[in-house]
Amino acid sequence: MHNSKNTKEKKVNKNQYDVIIIGAGASGLMCAIQAGKRGRKVLILEKANKVGKKILMSGGGKCNFTNLDVQPENYICHNPYFVISALSQYTQWDFIGMVADYQIEYEQRDLGKLFTLNGAKDILNMLLAECDKTKNVEILCHINVEQAEFQNHQFIIHTSQQTFSCQSLVIASGGLSIPTLGGSGVGYQIAKDFGHQVYPTRAGLVPFTFSDKFKNFTESLSGIAIDATLSNHDASFNEALLFTHRGLSGPSSLQLSNYWHLGEEIQIDFLPQIDLKELFLAKKQTQPKIVLRTILSEFLPKNMVLQLQQLLWQDIADKPLAEINNQKLAQLAEQLHGLAVKPSGTEGYRTAEVTLGGVDCDEVSSQDMQSLKQKGLYFIGEVLDVTGHLGGYNFQWAWSSGFVAGQSI
Ligand code: FDA
Repeated sequence: MHNSKNTKEKKVNKNQYDVIIIGAGASGLMCAIQAGKRGRKVLILEKANKVGKKILMSGGGKCNFTNLDVQPENYICHNPYFVISALSQYTQWDFIGMVADYQIEYEQRDLGKLFTLNGAKDILNMLLAECDKTKNVEILCHINVEQAEFQNHQFIIHTSQQTFSCQSLVIASGGLSIPTLGGSGVGYQIAKDFGHQVYPTRAGLVPFTFSDKFKNFTESLSGIAIDATLSNHDASFNEALLFTHRGLSGPSSLQLSNYWHLGEEIQIDFLPQIDLKELFLAKKQTQPKIVLRTILSEFLPKNMVLQLQQLLWQDIADKPLAEINNQKLAQLAEQLHGLAVKPSGTEGYRTAEVTLGGVDCDEVSSQDMQSLKQKGLYFIGEVLDVTGHLGGYNFQWAWSSGFVAGQSI
C-alpha cells in the first residue's frame, strides 16, 4: 500500500517541470536554451518524430537563418510596434555571434540574407548542443499536445499519451503551414481557451495560382525567372519572379502574397529598371522600322516577349514602330510596367512558408512574450500575429521572441 502511493507520487513528480515548451522548432529550442541556462528544469514536447523539421527544410536546405538588416518594418503585425523590444533585446548580431562561435560557415546572398554553406543541420545541431550544455533541457518527441489548463497554481498539459504539469507554459507550436512538417492549430486553440483573441489565419509567403487566361501565359513560361516588380495597393517588391505551371512564384510573389487578399488584383512590372515609354519613343526616331518584339527581346526572354505580344499587341505585332502612334506606345509601356492580373488563389498551407494572423499581440507583453491574461503563459514565434518578410526575418523573430521569453520564465 505504502509502496504504491510512493510510486504514484513519483510518477506525478516525474512529469512536473519548471517550464514546458510546446514545440521543438526554432523559437522553442531558443527559449529552452535560455531557460535551461538560468537553471530552470525544461521539458519540450514535440509532436513530430524529430525536432526542428522546418529548420532542416528551410532556405532550400541551407537555412536563411537571419538577415543583416532587420527592421520592425520587415514584419506584418496588427500592432506594428510589438516586435521592437524583442528584436532589440536579441538581435541578428547576437545570433550571428552564436553561429560564429560554433564555426558554422555561412554566406551572404542578395538583400542581406545569410545562409549556411554546409546545410541547415549545422543550425539545428548548434541549438541542440546549446540545449545539451545546460543539462536542464529534456525533449520528448512523438508527443501530441492536445490541451492545456491552469489548476491549483500550475499548468496541466494534456497530451495524446500522458499528462504533464509546470509553472510556466510556453506555446511555440508555430503556424499551420506545411502540415507534414508538424504545423498544427493547437497554439491558437490554447490561446482561445485562455481568453486570447486570435486573428484569422491564412497562408503567407506562398505562390499565386491562376485559373483565367493568364494561367496559359504562366504555364507556357514555366521555369523562367525574371527580375520584376510585383505590387498592389499595400506593397511592392522588386525581386526574382518565377513563372510556374500553376502561376507565379519566386521571391517577389511570395513577398506580395503576405499583403494580398482573395479577389484582389496585382500588378507586374516586367521591366522596372527601364522607362519603356521613353525607350519606344527614342527607338521610333532612331530605328523606325524595328518591331516591338525586337526591342523587348533585348531585355526579356524571347519566349516571354512572344507571350506578351499575344496578350497585348497581337494586332500590331508586325507593324514597324514608325506606324504605331505615340499614344498606343505609351499605353503598351504602361501595361508592361503594370500588367494587372487577378490570382484565383494561392497554393495554400501545403507550400506556404508561414502563417499570417495568430495570437493578438496586444494581449501579450512585448518585453517577454508573457500573456497579459494568464500569468506564466507565454507565446513565441509564428503562433503570434507576427509574420516576417522573406529573407531570414521569420527565423530572427523566432530567435528573438524565444530569447526574451527564456529570460523571463
Ligand atoms: P516551428 O514551426 O519552427 O516549430 C513548431 C513546432 O511545434 C514544430 O516542430 C511542430 O511539430 C510542433 N508542434 C505543433 N503542434 C504541436 C502539438 N500539438 N504538440 C506538440 N508539438 C507541436 N524562415 C526564415 O527566416 N528563413 C528561411 O530560410 C525559411 N525557410 C522556410 C522554408 C519552409 C519550407 C518553411 C515551411 C518555412 C520556412 N521559414 C523560413 C519560416 C520558418 O521556418 C518559421 O517561421 C519558423 O520555423 C517558426 O518557428 P516556430 O518556432 O514558431 O515554429
